[in-house]
Amino acid sequence: MIGVLDSGLGGLTVHEALVRRFPKLSIIYLGDHANDPYGDRPSQEIVAQTRDGVERLFAVGCRLVLLGCNTATAMAARRLQQAWLPHEPRWAGRNVLGIVAPTVEAATRTPWAVTTPRYPQKNNDDLIIVFGTTRTVQSGVYREEIHKRCPRVRLVEHACPGLVDAIEGGDEAAAERIVARACETAMQGTGGERPDRVILGCTHYPIVATRFQAHLPDGVRVLSQPETVADSLEDYLARHPAYAGDDTGACMLRVLTTGDPNQVTAAARRFWRDVPTHEAACAFPKRSRKKCASPETDALLERPAIPASGSPHCRFRRDDPDQSLSRRRPRPPPPPPRRRSPPPRLPPSSSASSPSARGISSPVS
Ligand code: DGL
Repeated sequence: MIGVLDSGLGGLTVHEALVRRFPKLSIIYLGDHANDPYGDRPSQEIVAQTRDGVERLFAVGCRLVLLGCNTATAMAARRLQQAWLPHEPRWAGRNVLGIVAPTVEAATRTPWAVTTPRYPQKNNDDLIIVFGTTRTVQSGVYREEIHKRCPRVRLVEHACPGLVDAIEGGDEAAAERIVARACETAMQGTGGERPDRVILGCTHYPIVATRFQAHLPDGVRVLSQPETVADSLEDYLARHPAYAGDDTGACMLRVLTTGDPNQVTAAARRFWRDVPTHEAACAFPKRSRKKCASPETDALLERPAIPASGSPHCRFRRDDPDQSLSRRRPRPPPPPPRRRSPPPRLPPSSSASSPSARGISSPVS
């Protein structure tokens, strides 16, 4: 079973692409609407929220959690992969993946495993615009990972504060204003030169992709991050099929939110008509009261950011350096159809009667 996590609606753009690509897989989505947006929060808060969300998805049976969020990937993926997960025996055999690596691969047409400039990538002088949240842009993750492979690529990065709020709230006028301004400023940054491609480096932004397209020069290629991520995950699962399996034999699609399920379902149906009805998940604990299972883990997470150079932010594996779209294997034959069965029971509450202690509400059957 695979989990997809985001601060809110944005990760549903990735989730939808995965549901279409892997119709036989159980995929559970968790949107932390009670705490969105993440993009302007302090980095330690984003790390802690992301860890909480990952744990919840592990607890309902996910072996693999995909961060359907650039902000969480930029701030938390590497720390969770390196400083947290290996020290949590109860989550042994599970993994967390980010979404920056496949996006960088697609934008640079360079395998992730190539970490130093080589011919022909070293001569690539494409012009790329990256739009993202404040935190993603400040993290420099796209700049660093693109330049590691293609040092001559010219990058214009632009943060769009307020856009996630506008999308979540269905405020079309605000979304239009912010996108128009962002495109105008980014185009000033290119000196008017038409970019070779554009990265919408926030999973909320594909929801307003047509607005970006309308305010950018004709014919600009806007990279589809959800499809790119689905491509890369397909490759990953072909090499790591155990992560795709689940213990129930059921093919389940569940969509959870820490926000109001009715409101969130209505908002999601503005761009994904058939999205399953959201189920309520309890809001994550307030950060000030949050205590991790082990003090050592909390201490690890409090460490300052790992220096950018030398190790991956978010590759689709923790231990296997050969990830690359160019080494994709042929698709495995589709598994036999599985019987649909009711969702599994959630793990018992640590403090039996309190729904908030249980973390995620009972499944809706
Ligand atoms: N959708 C998320 C991203 O890809 C985060 C948006 C937010 O919560 O600010 O960055």
